[in-house]
Amino acid sequence: MKVLVTGAAGFIGSALALRLLERGDTVIGIDNHNDYYDPALKDARLARHSHHPHYTHMRIDLADRSAIFDCFSTHKPQRVINMAGQAGVRYSIENPLAYIDSNILGFAHILEACRHHEVEHLVYASSSSVYGANTRMPFSVHDNVDHPLSIYAATKKSNELMAHSYSHLFKLPTTGLRFFTVYGPWGRPDMALFKFTKAILAGENIQAFNYGKHRRDFTYIDDIVEGVIRVIDQPAQPNSDWTGDAPDASSSLAPWRIYNIGNHQPVELMDYIDALESALNKKANVDFLPLQPGDVPDTYADVSDLVAQFDYHPTTPVKQGIAQYVEWYLDHYLPQKA
Ligand SMILES: NC(=O)c1ccc[n+]([C@@H]2O[C@H](COP(=O)([O-])OP(=O)(O)OC[C@H]3O[C@@H](n4cnc5c(N)ncnc54)[C@H](O)[C@@H]3O)[C@@H](O)[C@H]2O)c1
Repeated sequence: MKVLVTGAAGFIGSALALRLLERGDTVIGIDNHNDYYDPALKDARLARHSHHPHYTHMRIDLADRSAIFDCFSTHKPQRVINMAGQAGVRYSIENPLAYIDSNILGFAHILEACRHHEVEHLVYASSSSVYGANTRMPFSVHDNVDHPLSIYAATKKSNELMAHSYSHLFKLPTTGLRFFTVYGPWGRPDMALFKFTKAILAGENIQAFNYGKHRRDFTYIDDIVEGVIRVIDQPAQPNSDWTGDAPDASSSLAPWRIYNIGNHQPVELMDYIDALESALNKKANVDFLPLQPGDVPDTYADVSDLVAQFDYHPTTPVKQGIAQYVEWYLDHYLPQKA
């Protein structure tokens, strides 16, 4: 299969590209290598698969309409996985327009290119942050998500809506996956685990927001990759039971689906920090701070639809995932930085 993966130098996109190549697919990767965080880490991730004979890398921006359209005309991908995007809740308060460029305009270009090239299935990254002000746990794809707390979340919800219109009008099968705090080797330096590891090793204080009390459904990268691969192989189907009289929020008469993809086991931040302290064999000095603007206190994924339809079972407990992350950080990341 010929699969286009956007964000192919990113944390999740690079892991997906690698896995697709390993199973024999041809992969076209897109990434603009922006400097939101250290581009050297993006280069290092890419180096894992860029020399594969069935991999082609395009250093282009989703917001560059003609470059995206040219890429589709040249490579004619059968399936598309959109992982490129401006990530991060906190940065969206500082620089909201970066989210409009990559996540709204960029995603519109992907949809339009998929439409004109009759792509068989578009899978794209949404986020647990779309649950915003919802407090009913676990978060269900069947609940409404109309109260985002950040422009980041608003762009992800917008992607789901934009995808629906293309699925309806052009019968483009689309599946949105709401990721729940992904962590693991080759992870993002702007995320807590990376910042905590760096600070603990340097003997600096770490910052625990919401006084360390919030819970996150931390999901290990390999479990995410497994879920995305299962989903890309099954193009979204219309739900013939769907009715506009009682509209289900996760499906449609169009070939459009939304799923949560998480560990289904929320962990308190302090337990996450405990696991990190054990893996590093070093205690953290913690500054306890209030919840940050835009952040949600808890996330907890109801993944029953993914289990029922894709036999999805995340297998990595946080303690094991963090140990694997620390091994990568100490044995690969730090020596490469030196
Ligand atoms: N990691 C998580 O915990 C998490 C949680 C929820 C949702 N997500 C979403 O999943 C997707 C992948 O996340 P990630 O953690 O791999 O992030 P990442 O930042 O590591 O990867 C995104 C990649 O996309 C590239 N990119 C950004 N804007 C681009 C543009 N306009 N054109 C081309 N390339 C561009 C970046 O250079 C980066 O390499 C993102 O959409 C993110 O919002 C991630």
